[in-house]
Amino acid sequence: MTFSNRQEYEHKIKEVLITAEEIRLAIEKAGKQIETWYDDGKPVLLVSILKGAFVFMSDLSRALTTPHEIGFMCAKSYYSGTVSSGVVQITMDLEQDVSGYHVLIVEDIIDTGRTLNDVVKLLKARNPLSLRVVTLLDKPERRLVDFKADMSLFTIPDLFVIGYGLDYAEYYRNLPYIAVCDPKAE
Ligand code: IMP
Ligand code: MG
Repeated sequence: MTFSNRQEYEHKIKEVLITAEEIRLAIEKAGKQIETWYDDGKPVLLVSILKGAFVFMSDLSRALTTPHEIGFMCAKSYYSGTVSSGVVQITMDLEQDVSGYHVLIVEDIIDTGRTLNDVVKLLKARNPLSLRVVTLLDKPERRLVDFKADMSLFTIPDLFVIGYGLDYAEYYRNLPYIAVCDPKAE
């Protein structure tokens, strides 16, 4: 593993930013709002971009009484310098043909906005009935492309956070809360 011992692993968890209970309440509220978006009886598909959004996807899906399917995709975006090439490589694609669905992209965090900007473009080109984005966290200070989610549960400052699906060096995704990470702590 990336850490020399258990203490080093724990010391990198600097402080809790959002508690498990705060997340639970926010998702309950978000679920009620999202249900009002989909009242025409057409199929609904929740799409999450792996890996970070897997925990949020799981809790949001269970907070929705609207019947829905879930789908996963893996995406990598390529850029030259700070300019988006507009090319997003799908390393694992959805199995559903989105043209028959209301699509809701479920994301863990919007940082520069580049990944979602590309994924939204790509999915829009496949003509879904509608396309919306919900993100658990939003770091607007870091935005490099103009991108806004339809719903954001928490706006946070420019800090590197871990937990509830978010990783540092692939660890800490299992923390039930969102914490600030101090990568230099030993
Ligand atoms: P962007 O919006 O294209 O810059 O990419 C956002 C992706 O970067 C997210 O889906 C996360 O995987 C990752 N990311 C951004 N900020 C953080 C953070 O604070 N902690 C962990 N991962 C992050
Ligand atoms: Mg992600």
